[in-house]
Order: sequence, then structure tokens, then C-alpha cells
Amino acid sequence: MSDQDHGKNATFTLTDNRDGKSYELPIMDASVGPSVVDVRKLYAETDCFTYDPGFTSTGSCESQITYIDGDAGVLLYRGVPIQELAEHSDFMEVCYLLLYGELPNGKQKAKFEHDITYHTMLHEQLAGFYRGFRRDAHPMAIMCGVVGALSAFYHDSTDITDPQHRVVASYRMIAKMPTIAAWAYKYSLGQPFIYPRNELSYAENFLHMMFATPCEDYSVSPVLSRAMDRILTLHADHEQNASTSTVRLAGSSGANPFACISAGIASLWGPAHGGANEAVLTMLGKIGHKDNINEYVKKAKDKEDPFRLMGFGHRVYKNMDPRAKVMRQSCHEVLDELGITDEPLLDLAMELERIALEDEYFVERKLFPNVDFYSGIIFKAMGIPTSMFTVLFAVARTVGWVAQWNEMIEDPSQKIGRPRQLYTGYTERPYVPIDQR
Ligand code: SDX
Repeated sequence: MSDQDHGKNATFTLTDNRDGKSYELPIMDASVGPSVVDVRKLYAETDCFTYDPGFTSTGSCESQITYIDGDAGVLLYRGVPIQELAEHSDFMEVCYLLLYGELPNGKQKAKFEHDITYHTMLHEQLAGFYRGFRRDAHPMAIMCGVVGALSAFYHDSTDITDPQHRVVASYRMIAKMPTIAAWAYKYSLGQPFIYPRNELSYAENFLHMMFATPCEDYSVSPVLSRAMDRILTLHADHEQNASTSTVRLAGSSGANPFACISAGIASLWGPAHGGANEAVLTMLGKIGHKDNINEYVKKAKDKEDPFRLMGFGHRVYKNMDPRAKVMRQSCHEVLDELGITDEPLLDLAMELERIALEDEYFVERKLFPNVDFYSGIIFKAMGIPTSMFTVLFAVARTVGWVAQWNEMIEDPSQKIGRPRQLYTGYTERPYVPIDQR
């Protein structure tokens, strides 16, 4: 971790009733991207807090995992551009890169894939957890419950101060999420759970557990498993987004990794975050036809109307989300592979993108399609139900969550996250007995 850059300071002057005294706050420089003003001593020196409820201008931590340049539409995993990883790498390599900081050599990759593969089974008693849910339970609700329950089964990897425990817990999470996710889908169908197969790759295994049945052999399309592998890579990590920040905050108290990941899943579920991919399909269904696009674009611009164009806009990207570009390309490849020449949803999405990107409201606010805009169309073409879209996002993001969680625990400056507030409630007042109210 970097030290403070000595000599570079920001001067902070309070011009309220504190006689205009100035304070020097150190500046820390990034290897690339914005520097930060270190305000850790601000309250002690000035009796003032900073105020940034959406963290629009606040760095919550120092990290070396993922870098985003929102203006340029750049996304780097440990310095490697997402486009190059999507084209040349695979998800297991990307997991290794995010966890360890370097792409693996052949031997390292083979061992990593073996270690992940041999953690893909779930404790057999966890299967009973599913039977406690209604068959129509949302699979994200099941994910929150089952992942949180893992800490009741794997006591041998919950001591977060033990590096070996952290490795085992990280591998268990990455390995078991596809099984947990696929079993949630099977449970909703009333079909038997399909066990992982050790001869299959990570993406093949997931699709096999999703769509195979005990009644016949099932072979996974190599194009679909390649597309799924690429989608997992695109969703693997994204700096300090809401769900990753949730995992870090939960982990800062010393909570066990399974409970922290369960908290991250809960945060990802929101339609403003990972739930947007499901919301995009619902929105396209509502729009229904190209002729209705202008009416919905008008609604999206109307401040009195809660409707927003789901899959558009991003807190950081003020340019096209580089993942959306790759996703759009994958969309065409998957539909071609499946022989789907006429997908009304894709036509509708592309026309909506064209119209929105020519509209002053979206151009002025730099609202571009994000990673969620096209992903749902691919998932639907693969036969994955809408309710499973955010589940797939959670499967992919688990490696990012555990990489960031490990980085936080290993950070010597790490403290429990405990934000303060701007209090504007009542000042002290006496209790009023009920017969006087
Ligand atoms: C993900 O953080 C990450 O990295 C997340 C993620 C990851 O990989 O982890 O990238 C994954 O969550 C992608 C985002 C998925 N969400 C959606 O697609 C939902 C629709 N998008 C919006 O809800 C919104 O754009 C957010 C939540 C994504 C970003 O919101 P911000 O940064 O708080 O921006 P804002 O709400 O302040 O919007 C700025 C302006 C506002 O208008 P004004 O008040 O300036 O007039 O743009 C408008 C907003 O009303 N606006 C939209 C809009 N998004 C923003 N107007 C219509 N439709 C939209 N989608």
C-alpha cells in the first residue's frame, strides 16, 4: 500500500466562526486516476465532518485491483484492459488475476482450476435448505439465505485472521456459487439438483447444472459456454460499487466471509445495481414495440415520473461502458449460434439505444448503455429465466467481492467502517408523559 506523498497538501480554510483558520491536509497520489485528499485527521483538527451521502467524491479505501476511467470508458483488472481479457483470457485466469495480481502461468492455472473444481460440491445437508423455500421464491432470496448459511457448515474457514482460512473460504465461495445458483433454478422448476462434474470447465459446469437432467446426457454448446465464460469475466469486479462496498463494510467488523458475501448479494439485488439486468427485460417488455420508444424516453426524462431507462447511466461511466460494447457483440454471436435471426427484444434494445443516444437529455447527462443493457437479452436467448439474471451477476461478482475482501483484511490501515452524519434532528428536549401529549 502507498504511503502519503510528503509535501503535497490541500489547504482547508473554515470561514465560519472559527476565525478563518487554515488546515493542511495531505494529498495522496494514485498510480493512475484522481489523487485523494486525506481527511482522516479532519474531524480531530476542525470538529467538522465531510458530507458525501452517495460517496460521489469520496474514496472509501486504497485498492490495487480494478481501475475505471469513466470519462474514457476504460476498465482494467490489475492493469489489463477488460477488452483484452474478454477476447484472449478466460474466467479462471481472470479469477486468479484478481485474487493474486498477476495472470497465472500454465502450472499455476492448472492448480487453481483443480482447486476450484474440487470445491464445487455443496454439503449435502445444504440441499435441505432449498426445501424450506416456496418453489416460487425469487432465486436471489434463496442465494442470500443459502450463502449466509455456509458459515454454519464451514467452520474450518471462518477465522479471517488466518491467511489459509481466507484462501479456502475464497475458493469455496468462487467454486460453490454456480452450484448454489443452478440448484435455485432447478428448485424453482421442481427438477432434481444436478451435481457438478469435475471434467467440465467452470462455465460448462454451470450451464450443465442449469439445464441437464438425470434422464439423459446433456452436452453444453461450446459457443454458449464461451459466451457465458466471457459474461462472467465482464462482471467479475468493478472497483468500489455498492455491493463490493457492502462486502467491505461487513468485513471490516470481522464478520465471516460467507456472511459478508451474503450481504453483497443483498445489495446487488437492487434494481439500481445488479438488479438492472432483470429490470431491463421487464422494461423492454413494457415498451413492447419500437413505436412506443419515444413515449417511454419521454417518461424517462420526466422528473415527475419514476420511470428510468434501465440499463442506462452509471455513477462512474460518462462514456459507453466498455463491458456493454463486448456484451453487444456477444449478443449477436449467441443469437447467430442459436440460429435466432429475428429477436424482437434485441431489435427493440438497439433502436432504444440509437434514439436515446441522439436525445439531448441523455447526451447532456452522458447517459450511455451500461453492462446490464444487453446482458439480459443474451441470458434470455440462452434459456435463462429473467429471475436468474442477477443471480448470474452474483456468481460472476463473487471473485471480485472476495478479492476486495482479502485486500481489505490485509490492509494494515484497515479499521472498522463507521461513517458519521450531519444531524438535523431535534436538539435535546424533555420526555413528555402520555397524559400530557
Ligand atoms: C451496475 O457502480 C458500479 O460499478 C455498478 C456496476 C457494477 O459493475 O458493479 O457497474 C453495475 O449497477 C450498473 C448500473 C445499473 N443500473 C441501472 O441501469 C439503473 C438505471 N440507471 C440509474 O438508476 C442511474 O444511472 C445509476 C443508479 C446507475 C447512477 O445513478 P447516479 O450516478 O446517482 O446518477 P443520478 O441518479 O444522479 O443521475 C444523474 C442524472 C439525473 O438527472 P438530473 O437530476 O441531473 O436532471 O441523470 C438522470 C438522473 O435523473 N438519470 C437517468 C438515468 N440515470 C440517470 N434518467 C433516466 N434514465 C436513467 N437510467
